[in-house]
Amino acid sequence: MKNLEGKVAMVTGAKQGIGQALALSLAKAGARIVASDITHPTETIAAIQAEGGFALGCEADVTDNDSLQASVAAAEAEFGPINILINNAGLFSTIELKPMLEITEEEFDQVMRVNVRGLFQATKAVVPSMRRANGGSIINIGSGTMHRGAPLFAHYVASKGAVFSLSRSMAREFAESGIRVNCITVGFTASKGVLDHPEMMEKFSDYTIAARMIKREMVPEDLSGTVVYLASDASAFVTGQALNVDGGAVTY
Ligand SMILES: NC(=O)c1ccc[n+]([C@@H]2O[C@H](COP(=O)([O-])OP(=O)(O)OC[C@H]3O[C@@H](n4cnc5c(N)ncnc54)[C@H](O)[C@@H]3O)[C@@H](O)[C@H]2O)c1
Repeated sequence: MKNLEGKVAMVTGAKQGIGQALALSLAKAGARIVASDITHPTETIAAIQAEGGFALGCEADVTDNDSLQASVAAAEAEFGPINILINNAGLFSTIELKPMLEITEEEFDQVMRVNVRGLFQATKAVVPSMRRANGGSIINIGSGTMHRGAPLFAHYVASKGAVFSLSRSMAREFAESGIRVNCITVGFTASKGVLDHPEMMEKFSDYTIAARMIKREMVPEDLSGTVVYLASDASAFVTGQALNVDGGAVTY
């Protein structure tokens, strides 16, 4: 169903994994895509165009305002103001698994800098464009780990707790501009980044499948329908929410 026809969607961290799958899903629903990543998301652009969709690739670090501003300007010049922002970029699969007492302050700061401050900066860069579009939908990619905690990942879990609470504050502030903000709390997903780090699959795969009602591996495409729903007018009265997409691992 092309229910995002006429919309412009920016996806951060769109080069691979979950971000790439979400960019493709939004394109299939009719949105024109601004795929942004710290390295150029060439493969994502090619995949969207191969399906007959429209996409612009941008190289932007979510912790760098200049590159974010340049992406928004390029998006507006190519497609017009941005209606949808998927804050997906984050440090996850590249984080070294460590007991909390061994995580350094520098490692803690780096995860918070990208996962929390980067999301804050990307949102600040895009909201003026959304206001020019008379409203929009922001979807923040959180994690189910924030509900239950996870071993060896204290800084990451803390960062996703912050993504959840920041989403609620953003929803309250931006509602009067017609901008909705929701968070998806994602279950452990066999994304490219995770598959490239077999130690992660080894530590978390069986453990998370056992906790689910639906007993299988989660793949990036499991998020597609939820993202299209939250991006579209079908969710016009839904804001400030966190939606668990995790095969039924968390029930609150
Ligand atoms: N895979 C999972 O199990 C899982 C579970 C819950 C939440 N998530 C979240 O989903 C999102 C994507 O995860 P993934 O598994 O696809 O990870 P991934 O590591 O495969 O992809 C992350 C993407 O973000 C990009 N990125 C990293 N730092 C950036 C920066 N400073 N600026 C711009 N782009 C940057 C990377 O280049 C990469 O393309 C992350 O926010 C992650 O925390 C993943």
